[in-house]
Amino acid sequence: MTRAKNRFKLFRKLIVYKLKSRHRKGFGIHSPAIFSLVNKGFSEDCDISVKIGATAYKQTLKRVTKSIPRSTFGAGSLLSPNTKPTTPAAINREIGISKKHGELLYKLSTFYGRDGILELGTGLGSATYYLASGSPTSRVITVEGHRDYAETAKAVLEQIGITNIDIRVETFTNETKRIKEENGRLGLFFIDGDHSYTPTLEHFKQCTEIGTEDAVIIIDDIHWSDDMDRAWKSIKEYSSCRVSVDLFRFGIIFTNKKLQKQHYTVRY
Ligand SMILES: C[S@@+](CC[C@H](N)C(=O)[O-])C[C@H]1O[C@@H](n2cnc3c(N)ncnc32)[C@H](O)[C@@H]1O
Repeated sequence: MTRAKNRFKLFRKLIVYKLKSRHRKGFGIHSPAIFSLVNKGFSEDCDISVKIGATAYKQTLKRVTKSIPRSTFGAGSLLSPNTKPTTPAAINREIGISKKHGELLYKLSTFYGRDGILELGTGLGSATYYLASGSPTSRVITVEGHRDYAETAKAVLEQIGITNIDIRVETFTNETKRIKEENGRLGLFFIDGDHSYTPTLEHFKQCTEIGTEDAVIIIDDIHWSDDMDRAWKSIKEYSSCRVSVDLFRFGIIFTNKKLQKQHYTVRY
């Protein structure tokens, strides 16, 4: 599918989401824990220090002027098969998290990051910044297949004083397998790469295998393509998915078995 067709489809899906989404302040959500997240977490503004840090991250990244090749990992690289080297800041503008969703990640990290965080898809580290800032005493493991991206992210985040990150240059599958073999257990996951059907289901399943009993899994771009729509639909049917929250861009899955199975489409 061409990029223009994909954008048009995405726009149509966004209109449907705007019409269907509810629970803006959490009203109608039965689970107290999820009510409090939507009612309080989603609406509260982010700490000013987090906003200042995000600006420092961008400025520091801009100062890295050496061009690097674009990643060939994942479905995004198939849609725009441009591997021409460019600056990390330019690449980050294409793949990095927006301010609005970065701040949401920060809040989700403050709520659920206590038992450790795993991000699949570091890119240049923009989302890693928000995840690590939300839980400064937790370890954030972040996995990136492209060495140049990983090394740049590490250098930039360290320069702005983010120290609780552990960047691993590996494929998502190999790294999650390794964590499982080491009996690692983590509480919050952010899947942000390889956005196609089979890999998304596979990575989701791998995250549930290394998640704590109340793990929360965030998936980015759940409506980005027909493939991702299908993946989101399949994941919601899994028994490991107890509550799902569709925010259009992010899908959030709560895996705690004590929760009654329920699906929400929340206006964000
Ligand atoms: C959308 S970008 C991540 C953006 C990043 N989270 C941010 O907010 O700035 C996806 C990244 O995942 C990496 N990636 C995709 N599939 C991968 C895989 N199977 N194993 C390792 N890295 C992968 C790509 O190289 C790319 O850097």
